[in-house]
Amino acid sequence: MAPSRSQATLFSLLAATALLPSPAWAFDCKEIQADRVRFDLSKLGGPHMVHWKEEDLVHDWQYKYNFTLDVCDKLKWHKGGSLATECHHGARVCGIREDINLAVDRNSTITPIDIAGTFTSLSGRVIDAKFELLRNSKSNSDGGREGVRAILNGGKFPFKKDGMDQRAIIEFVCDKDRTGLEGDEKEGGDLEDGDKDDDGDDDKKEEKLRKREESGKGKCEDSDNSLRFCGYQQEEDGKDKKIQTLRLEWRTKYACEDAPPVDGGSHWGFFGWFFIILFLVIATYLIFGSWLNYNRYGARGWDLLPHGDTIRDIPYIAKDFARKVAGTVQGGGSRGGYAAV
Ligand SMILES: *[C@@H]1O[C@H](CO)[C@@H](O)[C@H](O)[C@H]1NC(C)=O
Ligand SMILES: *[C@@H]1O[C@H](CO)[C@@H](O)[C@H](O)[C@H]1NC(C)=O
Repeated sequence: MAPSRSQATLFSLLAATALLPSPAWAFDCKEIQADRVRFDLSKLGGPHMVHWKEEDLVHDWQYKYNFTLDVCDKLKWHKGGSLATECHHGARVCGIREDINLAVDRNSTITPIDIAGTFTSLSGRVIDAKFELLRNSKSNSDGGREGVRAILNGGKFPFKKDGMDQRAIIEFVCDKDRTGLEGDEKEGGDLEDGDKDDDGDDDKKEEKLRKREESGKGKCEDSDNSLRFCGYQQEEDGKDKKIQTLRLEWRTKYACEDAPPVDGGSHWGFFGWFFIILFLVIATYLIFGSWLNYNRYGARGWDLLPHGDTIRDIPYIAKDFARKVAGTVQGGGSRGGYAAV
């Protein structure tokens, strides 16, 4: 008996549900998919920070920004934090702005800016993460670059309905010589990797200069750090809407398309899912089929199962097969056959 049409429909539905990509509000930094290429950015997880300083000399104001992002998780609050100095819960990219009044005693105020994340406290604000390969991008400046661009949404500033939309665009650029943590500043302000400008090594200096010239082509901050600030400006989103956009560049080997798997076991994830889905499909088939047989044909016992007789015979078929294999091995071809069953 071939599976009926309704059974087939049910399978495909089930399979499709299981294969759906993770929902837009949560992406897994281990399994980032861009145009069918996978990236594992889990080694870049945890909070990382870049700085930017903007000056308004006409009005004697200085704005200092600390941008923190975590590609793998929500940002956590510091001990004793409050909304006066922290982004809302659910932020993955957060800007902390310090406004310094140069004219009046360098008085300063702190303003958190929610740039990207999924915020339950502001309805409908989800990170809606999108990923695209740099080489597939329409922009000419991406020509020949390897890597993946992440577009993370959800932020508002001020954090209310009519605040300005915020987003972060992070370009993970393939650089085989970098882990991505060079010059990294973990939250708390410690430089993880010695990257002082006054090291006397001439070779290193030359290399640094060369790298700076290369990097001068882009618009990113002039720095040897793997993670660099490239801008925080209002941009058009293509629909006549303004959106304040934080642009970052992250040079790392994990953005290379042939990057070795971060941990050898990561590909079992796929097989694991495959078997789970297979199991579910078979289970559904049996249950639904039995139900059909029960209802339609009043079947009982073994007859309930679709292909009941075949399933019942499986142990015998297996035994028979094993015996054949064993016979072939043992017989060594001397008699060229197998014993009569
Ligand atoms: C500077 O800051 C202090 C404390 O935050 C405040 O009392 C004072 O009024 C401020 N001065 C100006 C000129 O804003
Ligand atoms: C920004 O980061 C620096 C270095 O980590 C820190 O000293 C400073 O207090 C931070 N500023 C704000 C406003 O959080």
